[in-house]
Amino acid sequence: MRYYFAPLEGLTDSIYRRLHHTYFGGVDRYYTPFLSPTVHRALTAREQRELPRADTLGFCVVPQLLTKNADDFLWMASACRDLGYEEVNLNAGCPSGTVTAKGKGSGLLRDTDALDRFLDSIFSNAPMPISVKTRIGYDTAEEFADILAVYNRYPIKELTVHPRVRKDFYNGPVDMECFRYAAENSNAPVCYNGSLRTRGQLEEFSTAYPQMDAVMLGRGLVANPGLLTAGGTTVQVLEQFHDSLLEEYIRAFGSSRNAMFRMKENWRYWLCLFADSHKLGKRLRKATDEAEYKAITREIFHALTINSDITPDWD
Ligand SMILES: Cc1cc2nc3c(=O)[nH]c(=O)nc-3n(C[C@H](O)[C@H](O)[C@H](O)COP(=O)(O)O)c2cc1C
Repeated sequence: MRYYFAPLEGLTDSIYRRLHHTYFGGVDRYYTPFLSPTVHRALTAREQRELPRADTLGFCVVPQLLTKNADDFLWMASACRDLGYEEVNLNAGCPSGTVTAKGKGSGLLRDTDALDRFLDSIFSNAPMPISVKTRIGYDTAEEFADILAVYNRYPIKELTVHPRVRKDFYNGPVDMECFRYAAENSNAPVCYNGSLRTRGQLEEFSTAYPQMDAVMLGRGLVANPGLLTAGGTTVQVLEQFHDSLLEEYIRAFGSSRNAMFRMKENWRYWLCLFADSHKLGKRLRKATDEAEYKAITREIFHALTINSDITPDWD
């Protein structure tokens, strides 16, 4: 089985990916959170930071693009190719209202004719292989057969299926019946994504889908960043990872406030790993001062214990 780190906007930026690879690893590919190409035909400073030259990385990264405009998609795909990336991923899943209102992300799934025209344009001129990350519908899973019929017309390198519809956002049950339909009827190799949080769940998934070659993990891997490594997540390595992330974010953002804000997004998931973390977690969420933040995190790392057998629950 190959393991992919899902794109998570606000969490898995280039600093995070590099440090995750250094401290934990076990990931075959990291996907960038979505990049939105525009008509300006130049990478923004943020996009340049997100896309270091691929040959400087030492691990595999796939840039993800969010757009419904074929020219914009193709321009950014070429820019990624020029930076040494070997594949780009199309976001057909983002549920955010501001994105779908413009027909992007899972908004692409609302009109299968428009989706077909868009895919036709990008695949006719693709400078490199394109994979797709999709939901199973906009309103209902009944849309999926038509959506998959469109995907099946194109040489999609890999189809990652998150078996929820747009209104589910990231919660509620995943539709495994619909996922099975995708696995059995997709022309492209299928990768599963959604709510896998423990090694036990990964094993159950591999047993249920022995033909499946890849799974993509998001929040479960953020919560337990050593999930895919033999040693698991130890408190010592998590602390080192935390300290490096904080230091690099302070440098990159030029402000400890913004760095702490970013770190708290991680803590939302990490706290699930620690036994009895409720009180310290509450103090941490309220902390606004860097020294106070550091004192609380020290206490978490030194007074609490990680229970990596638990199923992280951040809901
Ligand atoms: C905070 C957050 C940010 C996300 N950002 C992206 C994104 O940029 N691109 C994308 O395709 N999916 C994004 N997703 C969806 C995840 O990649 C993934 O499909 C979803 O979390 C389900 O997988 P999981 O249960 O393993 O986390 C995001 C999800 C969350 C919770």
